[in-house]
Amino acid sequence: MNIKKHSLLAAAIIGFASLSPSSAQTADPKKVVDALNKVFGQHKARASGAKGQCVAGTFTPTADARKLTKSLAFHKQTPVIGRFSLGGGNPKASDATKALVRGFAFKIDPEGNGTTEFVMVNAPVNFAKSLDQMFGFLEARFPGPEGKPDPDKIKAFAAANPETTRQGQWLAGRPVPASYVGVNYWGIHGYTLTNAEGKTQLVKFKLVPTGGEAGLTDDEAKAKPADFLVSELQDRIAKKAHTSFDFVVILGQPGDPTNDPTVMWNDEEKRPAVKLGTITITKIEKNEACDNGIFDPTILADGVAGPKDDPMFIPRQEGYAISLSRRLKQ
Ligand code: HEM
Repeated sequence: MNIKKHSLLAAAIIGFASLSPSSAQTADPKKVVDALNKVFGQHKARASGAKGQCVAGTFTPTADARKLTKSLAFHKQTPVIGRFSLGGGNPKASDATKALVRGFAFKIDPEGNGTTEFVMVNAPVNFAKSLDQMFGFLEARFPGPEGKPDPDKIKAFAAANPETTRQGQWLAGRPVPASYVGVNYWGIHGYTLTNAEGKTQLVKFKLVPTGGEAGLTDDEAKAKPADFLVSELQDRIAKKAHTSFDFVVILGQPGDPTNDPTVMWNDEEKRPAVKLGTITITKIEKNEACDNGIFDPTILADGVAGPKDDPMFIPRQEGYAISLSRRLKQ
């Protein structure tokens, strides 16, 4: 176990009082993880993104990356360790479930001096803009006396918090992903890049599959076995078919909000994007390589900074560390 993993584990055990957000939210990361455990049950798995597969690969930068950021993560070819997942805390969820996000968490330069981590999903927006709203979303889904959530509570919460339905609408309007490497992933938060001359640029990170998007109709999805996504990836690796993503940044403009991960920027999909490099998945990795620690989106090498005003960004570190300490104890 390297030093970073040691410190994360220690932090998971002693708590993260100094990293708590300064906003007036009443829910804290522990309350949110408790709520995830109440909705999905506590398993020897992540409280969210419970079902997944560890993978290994490489990152190869473009010359444009240096123009935008001095971050060492984007200056050289480095290894990548990553984990694809299905959203939610059910470790046995079917890979054909349309309503769940697919996640891709990864570390660029995991053992080097540019370590940078992202935890992305296949939608450009999150389902909550604050910890309070995330807790409310989960609370509306708490199992009742019969062991099932009350659909009226879910409807009432959605009606009172319409922005929490945007992610689900995005997924509902698109085919079920036929491949973990056949779908776009977004970093969602607004980040600031700084280059060697000190010039800054607001961006959102996105991964675009080089082999194009691969989707299933609802009927095709129904016919698939519950665990088809890992074998599909294995097949692609064996056949040397597309297993890469273009790693791009969507360029922000002055005034673009960074405080609400449930909104896209105006015309975000039509904005210019710059390719920072290519991520290629080369190997299915043993899950232990990903499960002994966390992917922590707040770990960023100098030259990439997360949003200061997004109430969902910094608390991810504490939430993930709490989940780690629970799954290691199970
Ligand atoms: C834009 C916001 C967010 C996105 C896109 C997101 C996405 C994800 C993804 C893809 C995973 C799976 C990670 C993996 O494979 O290791 C994950 C795990 C998790 N998420 Fe989030 N998440 C967000 C915010 C939050 C927040 C604010 C909390 C609560 C504080 C939270 C709680 C968790 C927990 C507890 C896990 C399990 C972590 C582990 O055991 O390693 N998430 N999330």
